Amino acid sequence: MLKTVTTARELRMATTDWQRRNETIGFVPTMGALHEGHLALVKKAQSLTTRTVVSIFVNPLQFIAGEDLSNYPRQLEGDAKKLESVNCDLLFAPTPEEMYPPTFKTQIDPGPLGNMLEGAIRPGHFTGMATVVAKLFLQVMPDYACFGEKDYQQLQIVQQIVNDLSIPVGIVPVPIMRDADGLALSSRNAYLSATERKQAALLPQTMFDVAQKLRDGGDAETALEEGKKRLTEGGFRVDYLTLVDGRTLEPITAPQKNARLLVAARLGKTRLLDNTNLLTETPTTAFPEVA
Ligand code: PAJ
Repeated sequence: MLKTVTTARELRMATTDWQRRNETIGFVPTMGALHEGHLALVKKAQSLTTRTVVSIFVNPLQFIAGEDLSNYPRQLEGDAKKLESVNCDLLFAPTPEEMYPPTFKTQIDPGPLGNMLEGAIRPGHFTGMATVVAKLFLQVMPDYACFGEKDYQQLQIVQQIVNDLSIPVGIVPVPIMRDADGLALSSRNAYLSATERKQAALLPQTMFDVAQKLRDGGDAETALEEGKKRLTEGGFRVDYLTLVDGRTLEPITAPQKNARLLVAARLGKTRLLDNTNLLTETPTTAFPEVA
């Protein structure tokens, strides 16, 4: 059985024991409802360290008013089985009271990166994310922590807080895992109806087509406008489809080495995020045999 702890104290007992024996710790923070994307992070962590800790905590601080905190999928037992099947060493599943006792006050403001794009649409989201990630890092004290490129802005913010606060953790980006039709795996895909799930493939298709136009030297403004139009006609409400510098996330008008194409759009009540670089990239598919 996978060892599961719910308090920081029990967690520390396990990790200090490992550290005493010179073992190294890889960490994968999650909000649960685990899928192959999460498991890819676990496998990456295992390739770098001798012990792997996964946390499952639906962090109330990063949900803003009106968001899906109470409906967010929770399936701890099934998640524990999945983690066991990939030989994870320890699951940390704290309660909200353990993480945020009534005395809790401190929050981490990640600065400008936290206020743009997703941060502009979900004010306070990245402060809540940065706070819980910093707290989890101090609880787990990992050598490496793996984050998916799926949440590209989140990854950049985590790298920034680790640099700014000199947190001694190596941040390891992991490529996006996709379903056979290209849709990035996400716990929130469970909210899509069967019809919406079919429509959803238009998001990655459009994004990859825009990326190809940019690679071919097409005008960025035109390609982005056409992409937005195609998504809108396909039933999406587009929050943004934008070409940015991959580190500062500031918009750019022409491809450059670290350019990133970011998209966020709503299908019905579900908000979907995706992104890609502009290098020739083979998407990582979780279930290639179904293609
Ligand atoms: P969650 O959405 O559960 O995601 C946990 C990690 O899995 C993140 O690093 C995310 O980028 C990664 N991930 C999700 N889908 C992926 C996919 N299709 N391919 C690759 N990686 C994928 O992100 C969060 O939770 C929270 O904000 C958290 C960091 C845990 C802080 O609360």
